[in-house]
Amino acid sequence: MLQVTKDLQLAVDELVHGGVIGLPTETVYGLAGNALDATTVSKIFAIKNRPFFDPLIVHVANMEQVNRCASSIPVSLEKLMSAFWPGPLTVLLPKTEAIPDLVTSGLPDVAIRMPAHPMALALLKILPFPLAAPSANPFGYVSPTTAQHVVDQLGGQLNVVLDGGACEVGIESTIVGWDSTIEKVQIYRLGGITLEQIEEVLKEKAEIKASSSRPAAPGMLDQHYSPRKPLFLIENQSQISSDAGLYGVLSFKGQLKGPISFELSASGDLIEAASKLFAGLRYLDQQPISAMYLQLLPEHGLGRAMNDRIRRAVIKSSIH
Ligand code: TXA
Ligand code: MG
Repeated sequence: MLQVTKDLQLAVDELVHGGVIGLPTETVYGLAGNALDATTVSKIFAIKNRPFFDPLIVHVANMEQVNRCASSIPVSLEKLMSAFWPGPLTVLLPKTEAIPDLVTSGLPDVAIRMPAHPMALALLKILPFPLAAPSANPFGYVSPTTAQHVVDQLGGQLNVVLDGGACEVGIESTIVGWDSTIEKVQIYRLGGITLEQIEEVLKEKAEIKASSSRPAAPGMLDQHYSPRKPLFLIENQSQISSDAGLYGVLSFKGQLKGPISFELSASGDLIEAASKLFAGLRYLDQQPISAMYLQLLPEHGLGRAMNDRIRRAVIKSSIH
């Protein structure tokens, strides 16, 4: 029987018995289980229908847990961790034996993050193990930003979804790693921490690793974040054909008009827009429309991370 609850004890009981729960974080909801137990981790892959080649992020509450999972920390990454943890930053660090190979899909590095959501942090402090958690959406679909989103799609397969309200950040964590051959921080996925914020801490340019046929972070794969309805990226209203029928528009501050519309931020605030992006895509996806249209956001700050998600969502929808 599924329980949607704020009671941490229910979550603890489920997790210590090898279960998988819906977990609120400040970015998106996660599908969480004991990161040190391969059987539990394989359940996460099964529930999400995620291919085993796509590794999971390990969530921790403190540095002891980091040291249990990672054998060393490059200085530049340590700077970023102290600047942005707890928060929407994930670091790739050389893994220890404690982390099952399934968690990293056989890669030598493990992705680790300390979430800022008070409920997630409180839970992690009680548990005797860190939590492996991908976003709690079926593989390839839009990430969940409320407990209800998790219930809608995966509720039938879970006993416990912790309800921590709507996610404040609304877009996944930024993933960074250290390339020892060029001695530079690399950004593998843009998210809740912006390029500008990272460069300010490092006092140098950081490199965004472009998507490739064999991406270092499979989150860079093209088939991600897609709604089911066809999604079209346009530059202006005139590109919507006059016989488009019943369609939806997702617009930043109301520039696009349509029979059904969702506005990300009336005041043009990128932080507010990021927190509503996935909820907006889900909302439109549930409307009786034949297609949805959207524009790119300004290419700076959180706009860059949102544009990355939008481009991927569009690519998949247009080949379906
Ligand atoms: O904000 C977030 O990061 C959320 C919340 C729940 O913490 N989690 C999340 O997880 O977005 P997921 O699994 O949907 O995306 C994690 C991305 C994947 O694209 C995965 O390929 C990449 O991180 N990743 C995980 N471990 C990795 C590793 N060892 N090396 C390279 N990429 C890794
Ligand atoms: Mg995801």
